Amino acid sequence: MADRTTSLGDKVVYQIYVRSFQDSDGDGIGDLRGITQRLGYLQRLGVDYLWITPFFVSPQNDNGYDVADYCNVDPMFGTMDDFDELVRKARAHGIGLMLDMVFNHTSTQHEWFQRALAGDPKYLAYYKFADAAPDATAEDPGEPPTNWNSKFGGSCWEYVPSLNKWYLHLFDVSQADLNWDNPEVRSELVNVVRFWKDKGVSGFRFDVVNEVSKPDGTPNEWEDDHEGDGRRFYTDGPHVHQYLQELVRESGIDGMVTVGEMSSTTIDNCVRYSNPECHELSMTFSFHHLKVDYVDGEKWTLGRPDVAALREFFASWQEQMAARSGWNALFWSNHDQPRPNSRFGDCSTKESWRRSSELLPTCTHLLRGTPYIYQGEELGMTNPDFSDISQYRDVESLNYYQILQDDGKTPEGAFHIVHERSRDNSRTPVQWNATEKAGFTTGTPWIGIPANHTSINAEDEVADPDSVWSYYRGLIRLRKEMPVVQSGDVHFLDAMSNQVIAYERTLEDAPHGPRRLVVACNFSGKAAAALPSGELAEGSLLVENCDDYREEDGMLVLGPWCAVAFAW
Ligand code: GLC
Repeated sequence: MADRTTSLGDKVVYQIYVRSFQDSDGDGIGDLRGITQRLGYLQRLGVDYLWITPFFVSPQNDNGYDVADYCNVDPMFGTMDDFDELVRKARAHGIGLMLDMVFNHTSTQHEWFQRALAGDPKYLAYYKFADAAPDATAEDPGEPPTNWNSKFGGSCWEYVPSLNKWYLHLFDVSQADLNWDNPEVRSELVNVVRFWKDKGVSGFRFDVVNEVSKPDGTPNEWEDDHEGDGRRFYTDGPHVHQYLQELVRESGIDGMVTVGEMSSTTIDNCVRYSNPECHELSMTFSFHHLKVDYVDGEKWTLGRPDVAALREFFASWQEQMAARSGWNALFWSNHDQPRPNSRFGDCSTKESWRRSSELLPTCTHLLRGTPYIYQGEELGMTNPDFSDISQYRDVESLNYYQILQDDGKTPEGAFHIVHERSRDNSRTPVQWNATEKAGFTTGTPWIGIPANHTSINAEDEVADPDSVWSYYRGLIRLRKEMPVVQSGDVHFLDAMSNQVIAYERTLEDAPHGPRRLVVACNFSGKAAAALPSGELAEGSLLVENCDDYREEDGMLVLGPWCAVAFAW
């Protein structure tokens, strides 16, 4: 049987959010040439692949996740020549590119949707349109076909008076859902994948791909969901595995590195998405572990991180995916999530910031799967110090600032929630150096630069062997050197404190390096008992983010935000 551990076990992926990575032409927006300029930095860090977020032609209502032309570069980000140069030079640096395919929806500016709006039946069948009542008007269109919510707030149906129809948009009103039940749509998407594959990329990330298959029948027949927001009807939908297998087979990408973004998914489905025998994808992103600070699953209600729940999610996803040959993408962060050290750690003092920023990757990089680093994470970048709603750009954040007030929050209360939860928290420019524009641009950055770039930046950290950056580099090296990290079994340990997450990795027939690792991470600002110390004393210390741990009454006690790994 094909085995992910041999092809992916030693790899690390770095995510680039293009508009915030590096600007090369002074317009304040990151671009493809900016990435090319920084390839040396990425090679030195040691990463294998770059997942590059969408740079295709787009009106940018959702920063490029609203694609108007899948096979052209948006001039804002450069030209096709810039792209070809990036592929070539990345390869020369030993780095492969993974492109972001946004196939659940297109921008309403896409030619297909424009033709649908003009009434062309071929293109009407490309989207999820539903008839409105015969007497519907622009002023009073009546009830939408279902009561489902858009992920960005409000109904996920928009009425088009000229057609007397509604169209489905699970995201923004300018992102119309494609009709994957139409074979012509699926074949168009195959052609897009082939186009980029032929340009020499190494793989793909598929955006919200477990939402592409909607319930069978016409929208008017879809059962209303009176309890939820509709997601149970289209998450891991009826034909999703069949459609993915077809896409992968027809575009010839089985065996390339691929990852699917799987929203609200299950382990059972992710085994199917990522088990090599199913010929779907190499691995999956799941998000349950990033909802442990939501209240009742609600993103826009603030809660404290529940470390016991976090441990349970890691344990079940790690152990069950391994038992059934699934493969996890390992991550804390991306362009949709706040900075994890601000969220799961403590950035209030320099020491707690450094420890938290190193604790998080210690926990994930030694797990079974493929680690993803989101740009700036390797520097310990934090949520920005924004103080006014005018500093935010993200469509979801701005919508919810209003919705929270409509629901009765004061402007201050709504701002506080957006400040903690906004996707813009991770979208501020990469902090390259301590100068005014942080080395990101010579112009006016499209979004503000956090004040802490004077102390948290690449120039200082690359030169410092004790920096967060050097720590990440060390973790990447460990994965490359140690078969037990690449392909060992994983087993979660019962720690004494519920603030501690601990696990072991074992590989009996490791060709070299240790056969066993034990990792223990204290996710709290207080000392916590982790594991019995007796046996650990015989192991050799492999990783530590501080020396604040000790033996006490036969126990290993970890100081605040302390993470350690021992090897045998
Ligand atoms: C994914 C992307 C996110 C985008 C959404 C709609 O979740 O990561 O940024 O807004 O899909 O395309």
